[in-house]
Amino acid sequence: MTGSIEKLFQDVEISLNILRVLASNSYDSILITDATKDAKIIYANKAFKTLTGYDPSEVIGKTPRILQGAATDKTVIARLVDALKGDGRFEGKAVNYKKNGTPFIMDWRVLPVKVGKRTRVWVAIQREGFAI
Ligand SMILES: Cc1cc2nc3c(=O)[nH]c(=O)nc-3n(C[C@H](O)[C@H](O)[C@H](O)COP(=O)(O)O)c2cc1C
Repeated sequence: MTGSIEKLFQDVEISLNILRVLASNSYDSILITDATKDAKIIYANKAFKTLTGYDPSEVIGKTPRILQGAATDKTVIARLVDALKGDGRFEGKAVNYKKNGTPFIMDWRVLPVKVGKRTRVWVAIQREGFAI
């Protein structure tokens, strides 16, 4: 089959399958949260486990706040909170903690997924950073 990606995306089943393959095989960690104040995790890919040590099944329903700890820069998190109240777009780095307690630099982006004007979910793309 040939054609533009826009044409393929008109088919919902193809769209979903493309997105599933991309998300589950991405080298970057991908988190999707609901668009509530608590931002509860509704999806995490395999790379999230590689990055943090948490299995996706154990973080569903929790908030990404579980990754934070003593050395997490609160000003970065405050900037993220402001972004979530505003246009929903954030990019930054902060110390996070793996499941076993090891600190690392989280380098991540948050983007809103909207239908019309309403944000339905937030998507985060995350990787290990090498300097703050
Ligand atoms: C999609 C998404 C991904 C997030 N990922 C991270 C993350 O990787 N590390 C982190 O420290 N906080 C992350 N957060 C921020 C926390 O979930 C939370 O919004 C932040 O701690 C502020 O809320 P609080 O004041 O209730 O802690 C993420 C938030 C969203 C919406």
